[in-house]
Amino acid sequence: MVVSETLSAAVLDTATGRDAAGALALSDAAGWNQTADDWALFSRHGRVLGRRSANGHLVATAAALPYGDAQGWISMVLVDPAWRHRGLATELLGECIAWLRAAGVTPVLDATPAGEPVYRRLGFQSGMHFERWQADLAAPRQAIASDGNKDAQHIAALDARASGVTRRFLLDDFLARPDTRALTRPDGQGFVLVRAGRRAAQIGPLVAADTGAAIELLEMATQALHGPVFLDAVTRDAALTSWLLAHGFSRQRPFVRMSLGPAAALHGSDSQFLVAGPEFG
Ligand SMILES: CC(C)(COP(=O)(O)OP(=O)(O)OC[C@H]1O[C@@H](n2cnc3c(N)ncnc32)[C@H](O)[C@@H]1OP(=O)(O)O)[C@@H](O)C(=O)NCCC(=O)NCCS
Repeated sequence: MVVSETLSAAVLDTATGRDAAGALALSDAAGWNQTADDWALFSRHGRVLGRRSANGHLVATAAALPYGDAQGWISMVLVDPAWRHRGLATELLGECIAWLRAAGVTPVLDATPAGEPVYRRLGFQSGMHFERWQADLAAPRQAIASDGNKDAQHIAALDARASGVTRRFLLDDFLARPDTRALTRPDGQGFVLVRAGRRAAQIGPLVAADTGAAIELLEMATQALHGPVFLDAVTRDAALTSWLLAHGFSRQRPFVRMSLGPAAALHGSDSQFLVAGPEFG
């Protein structure tokens, strides 16, 4: 089953090193939305594990990203089609779990329906559900006057309260990207980020005190966008679902949050309307 005789295990450098292009090629081939900036972030703030073939070609990845001292995300489990069904994803997943546990944090991830039974067998428990929605938006009606940078600390505090994870570095990284836009509520109770993705602009996280405020933020964010857009909406709110359907969004796929032990992020909170993405929670 294990193919280590022809593959070498490696801690990858997807920020500046030789693996940046190979990792992006794997996520591109799977049709995923992560950018080179996202891959760089995983290496800078967490650990990207992989397998290289004898000629140095990257054939499998998985990333572990600690958020504070209690929880850590696992994502980017990708195996080149030619190397599938040989246990590589299972091995890499095990290594991410071991690394996070050694760091004293509970492993958390966002699973697709195909992944859920795999993680359940490993002992992961299911929590909140969310869905990826997509739309192809017409020409923008107005520009976003982004107010994120002056409010970075406030945004990070709202995010931490809503998501149950401490991840200021993630929000700072998003906000530092030239294409990121941030909107905050005048009452100080909510925000939304829009960032560039490889295939579509990604809206999220979105935090608000209630559904009306969440929809107002979404209205403002979508008014300034055109072309393909993704967002990951917590499956809880009928009014938000109706708004998405009425504004040209369609469901792409469901996700379920899972954790291997107690985790504050497992069930989300009432003020969390959009997550940052299944790779970040
Ligand atoms: C899913 C994927 C990572 C599995 O890689 P793999 O190395 O073939 O998996 P393993 O041999 O370790 O896994 C044994 C079984 O568990 C499944 N599995 C393992 N990890 C999985 C995961 N994270 N999600 C879904 N299924 C998974 C595999 O499909 C495999 O079943 P099969 O051999 O009957 O098809 C690979 O098919 C892939 O890269 N797919 C595209 C990207 C993707 O969907 N990643 C998972 C995101 S949650």
